[in-house]
Amino acid sequence: MAKAIAEGAKSAGNVEVELNYHVDAEDLGKFDAVLVGAPTYHHDMTMDTKKLFEEAAAKGISLKGKVGAAFGSYGWSGEAPKLVLEIMRNKFEMRVTEQPLLAKYVPDQNTLNMCRNLGKRVAESLIHAA
Ligand SMILES: Cc1cc2nc3c(=O)[nH]c(=O)nc-3n(C[C@H](O)[C@H](O)[C@H](O)COP(=O)(O)O)c2cc1C
Repeated sequence: MAKAIAEGAKSAGNVEVELNYHVDAEDLGKFDAVLVGAPTYHHDMTMDTKKLFEEAAAKGISLKGKVGAAFGSYGWSGEAPKLVLEIMRNKFEMRVTEQPLLAKYVPDQNTLNMCRNLGKRVAESLIHAA
């Protein structure tokens, strides 16, 4: 899903795209948009994702006004991307315009296309805002 989103974002043209398995809280500040992959475990996001946001908050890293989006694979309930978006919107005052993008277990071609489109839309919104 992350690769398809990155591919879609690059297809928009004049944007720099980074695909990271891990980022430090300090790194978040350097991006105009942050799209977080959040699989659902035990009705929640994973510990590393929660820790990332907690560290960013504790260190006073401002994400205000940056575009935020979340996606993830799930099995039966799929809460994690929605929870991530709530933190982005309510805690960090990020601009959240996209719905959570979910894939049941393994993304099919249709879901991967939705991922590409998500990446493209977010990148285009940055290009238009520039
Ligand atoms: C220990 C464990 C707990 C899980 N808990 C949930 C859950 O609460 N809700 C849900 O929708 N899926 C749950 N799943 C299913 C995962 O979200 C699913 O396998 C998903 O594809 C994992 O994505 P990943 O391979 O990107 O980590 C759980 C899976 C495991 C192994």
